[in-house]
Amino acid sequence: MDPVRNPFAPGAGTPPPELAGRDELLAAAQVAIERVRLGRPAKSLLMVGLRGVGKTVLLDRMRATAEAAGIETLRLEAPERRSLPALLAPELRVTLLRLSRGDQARDLAQRGLRALAGFARALKVKYADIEVGIDLEPEAGLADNGDLEQDLPVLLQAVGAAARGAGTAVVLFIDELQYVPEEQLAALITALHRCAQRQLPITLVGAGLPQLRGQTGRAKSYAERLFEFPEVGPLDATAATRAIAKPIRDQGARIDPGAVRRIVAETHGHPYFLQEWGKHAWDSAEDSPITESDVELASATAVAALDSSFFRVRLDRLTPLERRYLRAMAALGPGPHRSGDIATCMSRTVTSLAPTRNQLIAKGMVWSPAHGDTAFTVPLFDAFMRRTMPGEDWRD
Ligand SMILES: Nc1ncnc2c1ncn2[C@@H]1O[C@H](COP(=O)(O)OP(=O)(O)OP(=O)(O)O)[C@@H](O)[C@H]1O
Ligand SMILES: [Mg+2]
Repeated sequence: MDPVRNPFAPGAGTPPPELAGRDELLAAAQVAIERVRLGRPAKSLLMVGLRGVGKTVLLDRMRATAEAAGIETLRLEAPERRSLPALLAPELRVTLLRLSRGDQARDLAQRGLRALAGFARALKVKYADIEVGIDLEPEAGLADNGDLEQDLPVLLQAVGAAARGAGTAVVLFIDELQYVPEEQLAALITALHRCAQRQLPITLVGAGLPQLRGQTGRAKSYAERLFEFPEVGPLDATAATRAIAKPIRDQGARIDPGAVRRIVAETHGHPYFLQEWGKHAWDSAEDSPITESDVELASATAVAALDSSFFRVRLDRLTPLERRYLRAMAALGPGPHRSGDIATCMSRTVTSLAPTRNQLIAKGMVWSPAHGDTAFTVPLFDAFMRRTMPGEDWRD
């Protein structure tokens, strides 16, 4: 069928043609944000899930809804190497400048800009990567101790006060939160806690890999009470069916029920894989309706597409030993696996492999669902590892 009209959208953060099965989560975010605007207690949302389940897409959709309702938003993605204060400072500046435009909150927003100036200057010593325009001179003693754990709460409270003055709320949307180092995460949690205690209209909607939950708990023991951790997972059969069938229908074409069932089964309802299979099923079919044998053809090309993109990019960032570790996990099956079993598989000791495992966690490749267990963060990665490293030479 005409590839130009192919509705499916495999990609990182690419909005799907049909955002299926997430209505409850979207509604919960909207309620939390509206409550914060009114100064009512609401937990911050931290969405956790494996790679490719649709966390980024959800974050962006929630943000668009909030903006349409007149909420001030800022959006960041924590990369592996930049500091949180460096990412936050320029975004907070834009937010404060916007808040300073209206008459109601001008003074409060300007105070926020002074706090930001002090914050950036004092923390520059520790976080050399902070680069932010200075609009107003700092005020001595305002967010300028040079200690993130003290200064970030003061700065966010100033932002929250300005938001309240303007009759709105500020929502921080932060993606890939698991990459924020623990002491910076701790400062962010303290800051949000302080703002919540003062009923200031500022909150966080975050997303990250499943290890985020443990990281926040370690950073601050009260984090469990401050945050809600909705799990973003594969779609159930009804939602997965809709994610495939509706976009095809919207193009005036059809797909056989058996073909849809086949796609749902092969993808396990995983959102990224659904997009990939949908795309290839459309392209494989000569005519509408798309049949089960079209899907059979599509499966081979869909797997090849995943191998060369979704799976591949992750492997390219690893050292040979890290790859061998993942290959050993794959030899044991989908997982999770015990560290001892993985080590045995490689004829090594658990202790000698601990740094490798830690690196793989830091790179977001694996996580630990329970003490001593290791699991892939990318669904179906075990099968990919066996395809890409066939043979047995990884063992020695
Ligand atoms: N509810 C959904 N229904 C159908 N497709 C979806 C849904 N959510 C996301 N997708 C599709 O899944 C793919 C992955 O989405 P996204 O990049 O948001 O995932 P992610 O969880 O942020 O992944 P990563 O952890 O790798 O950043 C995209 O192609 C997107 O269009
Ligand atoms: Mg993402």
